[in-house]
Amino acid sequence: MKRDGFSSKFGMLAAAAGSAIGLGNIWKFPYITGQNGGAAFILVYLCCIALIGLPIMMSEFVLGRKTQANAAGSFKKIESEKPWFLTGHLAVATAFIILSFYAMIAGWVFSYIARSASGKLIAVAPDQLGSYFGNIISSGAEPMFWTFAVLAVTALIVISGVKNGVEKYSKILMPLLVGILVLLMVRSVTLEGASKGLEFLFKPDFSKLTTKGVLEALGHAFYSLSLGMGIILTYGSYVGSKENIFKLALQVTIADTVIALMAGVVIFPAVFAYGLEPAAGPSLIFITLPAVFAEMPFGAVFETLFFLLIGIAAVTSTISLMEVVVAFVTEEFKMTRKKATVLIASALFLLSIPSTLSFGVWSGVTVFGKNFFDLFDFIASNIFLPLGGLFVCIFVGWVWGTKNAVDEITSGGLYKFNYERVYSVIIKFVAPAAIVVIFLNSMGWLTKIVESIKSVSPMFLGSAVVMFVVLVTWAVSFKNRMKRVNG
Ligand code: PFF
Repeated sequence: MKRDGFSSKFGMLAAAAGSAIGLGNIWKFPYITGQNGGAAFILVYLCCIALIGLPIMMSEFVLGRKTQANAAGSFKKIESEKPWFLTGHLAVATAFIILSFYAMIAGWVFSYIARSASGKLIAVAPDQLGSYFGNIISSGAEPMFWTFAVLAVTALIVISGVKNGVEKYSKILMPLLVGILVLLMVRSVTLEGASKGLEFLFKPDFSKLTTKGVLEALGHAFYSLSLGMGIILTYGSYVGSKENIFKLALQVTIADTVIALMAGVVIFPAVFAYGLEPAAGPSLIFITLPAVFAEMPFGAVFETLFFLLIGIAAVTSTISLMEVVVAFVTEEFKMTRKKATVLIASALFLLSIPSTLSFGVWSGVTVFGKNFFDLFDFIASNIFLPLGGLFVCIFVGWVWGTKNAVDEITSGGLYKFNYERVYSVIIKFVAPAAIVVIFLNSMGWLTKIVESIKSVSPMFLGSAVVMFVVLVTWAVSFKNRMKRVNG
């Protein structure tokens, strides 16, 4: 049977960009930008996207396209002797766990769509918005209902297949998203006092930039581009062999970044125009912004459009997260798409319950000092995600080889790709090093390591570095000699 896949260039771009553009762009990017002082943080973020994000995205695309398989099958097809397929299993597990709580947050957004459309949200007094939001997310039944709705909508789209589901709906939803975003942008920048927000967003003040901010930018580049969890790999397996992968990855990366910046242009001018706090954190969209809309003429309309925008962005991302798991189960366990999707969506709903309850009756239940939501988020985002990204780099850089990857990037020489050397150096060395730093930082180990290095004498440190270099050189020359001996 012919494998399902994307049928048009626009559909392929809409689906991949739809995956990348999500809560990460419209919810997280604005609030971490707000917390890290604005423009200087954005500049660092752009560097991370271009230098690390784009090369890894290309690598995931070509892994999928070359092998025409799901996340686990893909590694198995290239290296069947060693257990590299476990990297694929890790990716599937990451997508599964992330989706369980991503659907819950998307559910809060769905609830806000309903409340703003019915005019209930706009009627809440601004000083009550915090407790209003708190009551909703802690109530248990309501967030569960909306999480279910998110998963059901996602499953209905995924069940129809890649061409007739994922691609078809991405082609409708993404232009709708851009349309709403442009409308809201025009509204926001024409408010009196909007220029302060634009200045915050675009005029860099490097004194506000911290090491923590730089690391956060790096981590977010990963999250925002949907890397390290097999999404782009799985979508790559639906891309035709004659498509230009460099161009596609570049388009997705640019779309993701432009939309994040546009979301910033919607949010900050409005926040500044009404004298509110840009560094509010995660509550920025659920508490700060409704206060902005409450003051605005026709606020209820713009509020509904705003939450609809976030809802659309979230659903095109939940589709991609679910597709990773569905592709894996259908191909590895020979199950029908329908059965696999229903099974997976039900399991996801069950797994979302502990996260949902951790804002209410289970808020006191902790494992390793974290409630369920924080625990799942920590395991998936801080441990599995960087590990997945690291393994992809090592696999493409050192096992499959960047030569093979570049051959696939150029579709066997059909397209020109002038950055082979830079790409190789990044995938083999720069990206793995950057990911290790993100990982050490998110585990809270980086500062400890830096502290202990600082306390060691320079003499000792110098000798350790020399010894390390000698050891690596010896290992490489030994490997080469063995290769020659073996023929
Ligand atoms: N990239 C999307 C976003 O920024 O929201 C979807 C997503 C993928 C979120 C992977 C989180 C994640 F770990």
